[in-house]
Amino acid sequence: MERKEFLRKMGGGAAFALMFPCVQSCSKDSEEPPSFPVPTGVDFTIDLRRSENAPLANNGGFISIKSDPDLTYLDIVVARNLEGDLVAASKICSHQQTEEVIFRDIEGGVFFCTTHSSKFAQDGTSLNLNTTSNPLKIFNTSLAGDFLRIFE
Ligand code: FES
Repeated sequence: MERKEFLRKMGGGAAFALMFPCVQSCSKDSEEPPSFPVPTGVDFTIDLRRSENAPLANNGGFISIKSDPDLTYLDIVVARNLEGDLVAASKICSHQQTEEVIFRDIEGGVFFCTTHSSKFAQDGTSLNLNTTSNPLKIFNTSLAGDFLRIFE
């Protein structure tokens, strides 16, 4: 059946109703996800006793930090890895700079981008093809009592 004939048989309204959802979803699918700058000049401290940092009490737990107390832009993920060490990385993925990096307790503990499922070792090395030449930015951590310093 030719397109013209199909449209004539369906009637204009029905054809529009069939096509409209596709037009909407297709345009959404083709949009680029928003991108963000990788944090630089990072040097701040968090108090592990604060309630928002409670996930760091457990191995595999993580938190996301958008800014420090001075409201400096950060976008960092801090995690307690499966060995109990505190590690930190940029939440900005090295693939397309979305702010979707989290920590997952799979494969020994990896940083994971939920946008296209890229995985990174805890030293930032890419573990898949999306980002082989672009490691994830990793930050140093230093623990003094209940205070965790995160810095470059
Ligand atoms: S933006 Fe992170 S995997 Fe594509």
